[in-house]
Amino acid sequence: MSIDFKHYAGREQAFVKHTFLDEYLKAALGIICSRYREFVYVDGFAGPWKSTAGEHFDDTSFGIALKHMTKILEFYESKGRLIKMRAFLVEKDSRAYTQLEQAIKRFPKIEISPLKGMMEDHTAKIAASIPSSAFSFTLIDPKGFPEIGAMMPLLQRQNAEALVNFMFDFANRFGGTDLIPKLEAWLSLAGKEGWRDLINGLTGAEREQMYEDLAVEALRSTPGYAYAPVITVDKVLHNRPLYKLIFLSRHSRGLEIFRKSESIALGAQAEVRSVAKANKKAENSAMGDFFADGSDAVPNDRSSQVIRRSQLQAPIQLKNRLIAAGGEEVTWGELWPQVLEDFSVTRSWLGRQVNYFRKAGQLLAPGWSSERKQIPDDDQRLIWNNQLS
Ligand SMILES: C[S@@+](CC[C@H](N)C(=O)[O-])C[C@H]1O[C@@H](n2cnc3c(N)ncnc32)[C@H](O)[C@@H]1O
Repeated sequence: MSIDFKHYAGREQAFVKHTFLDEYLKAALGIICSRYREFVYVDGFAGPWKSTAGEHFDDTSFGIALKHMTKILEFYESKGRLIKMRAFLVEKDSRAYTQLEQAIKRFPKIEISPLKGMMEDHTAKIAASIPSSAFSFTLIDPKGFPEIGAMMPLLQRQNAEALVNFMFDFANRFGGTDLIPKLEAWLSLAGKEGWRDLINGLTGAEREQMYEDLAVEALRSTPGYAYAPVITVDKVLHNRPLYKLIFLSRHSRGLEIFRKSESIALGAQAEVRSVAKANKKAENSAMGDFFADGSDAVPNDRSSQVIRRSQLQAPIQLKNRLIAAGGEEVTWGELWPQVLEDFSVTRSWLGRQVNYFRKAGQLLAPGWSSERKQIPDDDQRLIWNNQLS
């Protein structure tokens, strides 16, 4: 199932978010369900919200998740492996909650608990009802800011991953003003004394990065996540971020799946923004001279630039890490998570760069099994060839 753009007119950001979720859940569930007997999906701010897809709710986070869960459950059922699939869907708005109750009837194979009210009031009970042997994925996607401290019982689980929406645009405008107490609480959570001083005086990309770092640190530090990469979802017609989707994982495989899903979501973002800007210009221009300067074309989109910058910098970091090992062997399995943590490249793309370095003699890879092999195995040893660099 891929996400159908026709349901997202006027809410293109949700298309980017749902493209990511769709790709992530498809890939992650396959791996998770091969290792765990129980999977629990928690959607803390479930909606439905501005859904236009009709009774299938294909354009909602819970609709996408429940569909993938049903598919993978049926796949494993056909192999004789029984997986327990559960979902907790929390929604405070009465109208949306009524729709949610109707919608879940379409997914009879999943044990679904719809919960009415505030997610903040349900979190501890939900977390307590998930056995430690189960794997959970929690989506925290409110329109504003949640009480982030109240989300911790779910984020602190060991067998867990999560995606948390940080409303950067609001933070950028109201952070430090005390107008949004839940935002202030979130930014203070990492325990960085004087975070306001860190923001003060910063502008543009530096300010954006500082807000992102504070928001991420608050989420990852106490639960102790190894990886917390971020996708920036931009405003549609303006070259500015709207929100940040912060992914939390304790496993390098989670990071690997994140980067693959991110690359597809960023590609989708470049396309929808480019089309939306072209449409806007066409509306405003009798001459139809949109695209004249190419500035809104897909390759120039901010998302495309993120990928391009990463593809320039990631091989340099890979090389530097091997050089820093001072002639000692490093395995590919140790190396790729370090690079993927910092750069928006996929494991397979980076693996192919290793192969180019190897073919050029810049890198030694003892025991590389075949010239047809493009991507190393995790136990492949790598040594930078100092004779050539
Ligand atoms: C942005 S929408 C969710 C969209 C959904 N995650 C998706 O991608 O399809 C946020 C939803 O959370 C609900 N909501 C807001 N604050 C809430 C809270 N504290 N607890 C539970 N639901 C809340 C809103 O009524 C709204 O339906």
